[in-house]
Parts: sequence; C-alpha cells; structure tokens
Amino acid sequence: MHSPISTFSPCQPLTHILQGRATQRPALTRLMSTGGRKRRLPSAFPVIDGTLQPFYKHVYEANLRNSMVCEQRFRENQEKVQKGGGENAIARHTQRNRKVLVRDRLRMLLDDEDYLELSPFAGLGLHYGDIPSAGCLTGIGKINGLWCVFIANDATVKGGTAYPITVKKQLRAQDVAMQNRLPCVYLVDSGGAFLPLQSEIFPDKNQGGRSFYNEAIMSAMKIPQVAVVCGSCTAGGAYIPTMAEEAIIVHRIGTVFLGGPPLVKAATGEEVSPEDLGGAKLHAEVSGCVDHFAATEKEAYEHTRNIISTLNFELPDEGAEDVEEPLYSIEDLKGLAPRDYNHSMDIRMIVSRLTDGSRLQEFKGRYGTTLLTGFAKIEGHLVGIVANNGELTYEASLKGSHFVQLCDQRDIPLIFLQNTAPCPPLTPSQAKAESNTNRLKAQGSMMSAVACASTPKITVVVGGCYGADSYAMCGRAFDPNFLFLWPNARVSMLAPGHSAALVQDEKEATELNERLEEESSSFFSSGRLWDDGVILPQHTRTVLGNCLKIVKQQEYQLSREKLRTPVLRI
Ligand code: COA
Repeated sequence: MHSPISTFSPCQPLTHILQGRATQRPALTRLMSTGGRKRRLPSAFPVIDGTLQPFYKHVYEANLRNSMVCEQRFRENQEKVQKGGGENAIARHTQRNRKVLVRDRLRMLLDDEDYLELSPFAGLGLHYGDIPSAGCLTGIGKINGLWCVFIANDATVKGGTAYPITVKKQLRAQDVAMQNRLPCVYLVDSGGAFLPLQSEIFPDKNQGGRSFYNEAIMSAMKIPQVAVVCGSCTAGGAYIPTMAEEAIIVHRIGTVFLGGPPLVKAATGEEVSPEDLGGAKLHAEVSGCVDHFAATEKEAYEHTRNIISTLNFELPDEGAEDVEEPLYSIEDLKGLAPRDYNHSMDIRMIVSRLTDGSRLQEFKGRYGTTLLTGFAKIEGHLVGIVANNGELTYEASLKGSHFVQLCDQRDIPLIFLQNTAPCPPLTPSQAKAESNTNRLKAQGSMMSAVACASTPKITVVVGGCYGADSYAMCGRAFDPNFLFLWPNARVSMLAPGHSAALVQDEKEATELNERLEEESSSFFSSGRLWDDGVILPQHTRTVLGNCLKIVKQQEYQLSREKLRTPVLRI
C-alpha cells in the first residue's frame, strides 16, 4: 500500500486532460481481492464525463500552482519528521543505548513497508515547539496478513516522553483500533510524562490515564493487544505492557518500573541498576509482568508476529480481481484541488478520478444539485459518495439525509468529499429568514442521519471545511472512521477573507482574517490532530481503497459477539 506519504510524481500536462479520454476503454488492474469465492452483483454504472472544459483552464492552472506550493510544504514536513529528535538523539539511541530506530522496528514487525501512517505531521507548530511525529508513530499495517494498529514511541524525541499531543495521538490510534476492531501492537520506549507539561497530560478524562482505561475496554471488546517493551517503560509507561493481553521484553534493552534508579537512590539511598530493578530477566522470571523474553529486538518482533498468528481470525482466500482504473488521470486532481471556494469546479471532475472506471450511479441527480450523491466502486468496494457541489441548501440536505439512510440500510460504507461554503448564510430579510430556518431543519435532519449511520464513514476534505455545513458532511466531531485532508484544504469556522460579513469594525476584521489565514491551513489542523493526516490528492484513491479493506476486516474475526471481560494478566 502507499502510505499517505509516498513518492512525488510530476503532474499531467494540461492538454492531456483538456482532450478528455472518456471514450477510452478503462484500464484494468488486477488487485488481490479479499472477497474469496464470493461474487459481487455485476454493475455497469454510467461513466461520468470528467473532461475539463476550456473555460476552466485558468482555474485549473491557478489550482495547480497552489497545489505545487502545498506539496512543497508537505515534502518539507515529511523531511522534518523523518529526522525524529535529530542527529545527537539518534546517535544516543543507536550507539549508546544500542536500540533500533522506530522506523526500522516497524520494518521488522510488519509484512511490508507499505503501511498507512496516521497523522505523521501531528506535533508540528505547537505552542511548546515542534514535536516530530508527536514523539510516537501510529498507523495500520499488516502482520502475518492481518491489519493491526501500531503505536510506537520514538525515543529520539526527548526520550520518548509523552507530550500532550503524544497522548492525543495515542488515544486517537486506540480509537481507530476500537472503531474498526483492529488488533493493536504497542512498541513501548518511553520515559513517561514530559514533566514540564504534566498539568496538560495527567489529570483530565482524555489524558494519560485514558490509554490504560482503553486497554481494558478494548480487551473486553475482544480487541487483542500486544506490547513489546523495547526501551524504558517508566512511571505511567509501565502500565502499557502490564495491561496488554500479552507482553514481550527485550533483554538489556527493555525495563519496566514505576520509579527508576535515580528515584530509588533519592528515596532509600540504595544504588540499583535498571536491569536489576526492572529488566527483562526480573519481569520474565520473577514478577511475571511480561510473558515472553526476547534476547534481541529482532526476536521480540518474531514473537509478536507469532502472537498475532494465534488470534482467532479467518481471512478469506486472496484471489485476483480485475478492477477498472479511472478513465482520467489521478494526477489531474492537483489542478482540481481548489485553492479557495471560488476555484471549485464541478465535483464530478474529482469523483471521476477516484472511482473505478470513472463510474457513478447518481442518486437524485436533478434534485438538490449542490450535493452530489451516488453509488460507485473504489478498488472494487461498493461505496456511497456524498460530495459538496455548492452550498448545502434545504434540498441538498434533504437529499443527503435520504441517501445516507439508504447506505446505512444496505450497509454500504460512505465516502464524504467535503468542500463546504466559506461563510454562514446571512439573514437580511424575512423571506431569507424563512429559507434559512428551513435549511437549518433540513441540515439538522442530515446531521442526525450521518451521526446515527452505523456503516463505516470516511471523510476527505478536498477544499473547505467551514462552519456548520462541515458537521453534516461528517467532520471530525461526527466520528468518521477516518478523516484526511488534502494539503490545499482549509479548516475554520469561516473562510479567511469573509470575516467582514460578520465583524463590523474594519481593523478587527483585518486582524481576524489574518488569524484565519494562518489557523485554517491543513498543516495547522494536522499538527493539532484534528484529522488522521494530510494526504496528497494523487494518493487518495489508494488510501481510500486500503481504508475500505481495513474497515472490512472485522467481519473475519470469529466469535466476536461473545461478551467478555478483559484479560486480567495476574
Ligand atoms: N520529562 C521531561 N524530559 C525528559 C523526561 C521527562 N520525564 N525524561 C527524559 N527527558 C529528557 C532529558 O532531559 C533529555 O533531554 P535533552 O535531550 O534536552 O538533554 C532527553 O529527554 C533524553 O533523555 P536522556 O536521559 O538523555 O536519554 P536516555 O536515552 O539516556 O534515557 C530515559 C531516557 C527516558 C530512560 C531517561 O531520561 C529517564 O529515565 N527519564 C526519567 C523518566 C521518569 O522518571 N519519568 C517519570 C515521568 S512521571
């Protein structure tokens, strides 16, 4: 799988897409199917005409220029997080502490390097500084063929200590594991709480203790969890392995204790080595806090892979399945990604570059046309698409509500392509007040339908994520299984440049606009973990295809309905 961060490919020449290729026969890709011998109903949904009209040329070119700038920033951030805590910390980690770097650990653990990394830019640009990858890599990768969430500390970032953003990232990863019923593997190498920020880490409900609470709840939900102690597990960190269902420790690398040797010395005057206080031998042979002793890190990941093989899943035979590629180049998405709301084109142009064969069975095509709804396939998976194509009007919201309920009835995953209007509708007259009230009621109905739909939901913000329209379009608060942003995306109550409509004072409006400009960027959002990551437009189809496989895996877990209590290890 492509991770959201994969190699840059230059975009298509404009002439190529101006000519359009809708009459060509769709290319077929042979994908490994997880459908076994089951057969989907045949479908020949109509092909969308995604040809770029010549009068859109200047819009396309402006978008493309903006996308190149955004992509440059994306690459710079990527480079920054790859360096972890910097050269000195890497040398300390590998040479003095003789540990393996976190990305190399993942290479040993996972079947292949193609994993879906979640929120790689979380932690960048915070008020307490840049915390690369929030000090902890999270994502979903395959272990012996099974999709698993991983949560792996990066000890090159301040000894793997937990900043507030680290805690938030870990909790989000557990959330992903719970929502999609994915086994979870913790690679623990952490000095516990980052003490200078303890008040933002320790006391509240969704802070430090929540991850231990989640471990118990997840176990009771029959979501298996394995921890590998491949470094320090100090203070709060010590609870991660002791609450996991199975734990492994690496000899002379892993330690588990509530207070380390300096604390023992200060309290009792006694000198003790980390190994004697809480090393691998002690915990595997005396305390029983861990279940498996590994002589090396490599051995620890082999143990983990074997433990995953003991989980009770029955995956279908993998057979090859022909999937139609979109008729239009996915690279065109860079010119279709709107630099602002006024540069949005017909959303069908984007949809035609994401769906199999550029096909869409549109629903209510002539009603509420500012919202596009319809059925399509993405890498062979049947989905319902809900995509903004203008303001979310009364009619559009009613249509959205109807369509979301249809998909829920049929258990079809929903894909929301979000590009909402920049400013709430103003109410300058009585007639307008009535239409706004109707719109409010219809949006309320759509929001209820989205909130209560029990089918998987995946949101991609392809343009704006503004104000109340974004709730109905399954924004973060509406709990989509995954939410990704394109780099051009903007996230704020109202779009930069629109504050004058609401704030009378000119100076105040200017200041507010400047603030909105800075705070609405996709990187600002992702730094704070308001999403699951920024993805490049050209990777969207692959990311969606993989998310659809991931949400499906839970169907293959045996006896998951049986009620259980958590595993109590000792
Ligand atoms: N809070 C804040 N900073 C911490 C920290 C903590 N709990 N633990 C470590 N750090 C910082 C160190 O000050 C150091 O900062 P620097 O690079 O700016 O000098 C950096 O993290 C790395 O620590 P260092 O001790 O040099 O690295 P190490 O690899 O030899 O050891 C630990 C890492 C985590 C084993 C060790 O630092 C340790 O035991 N820390 C204390 C853990 C603890 O008692 N936590 C209690 C939390 S409630």
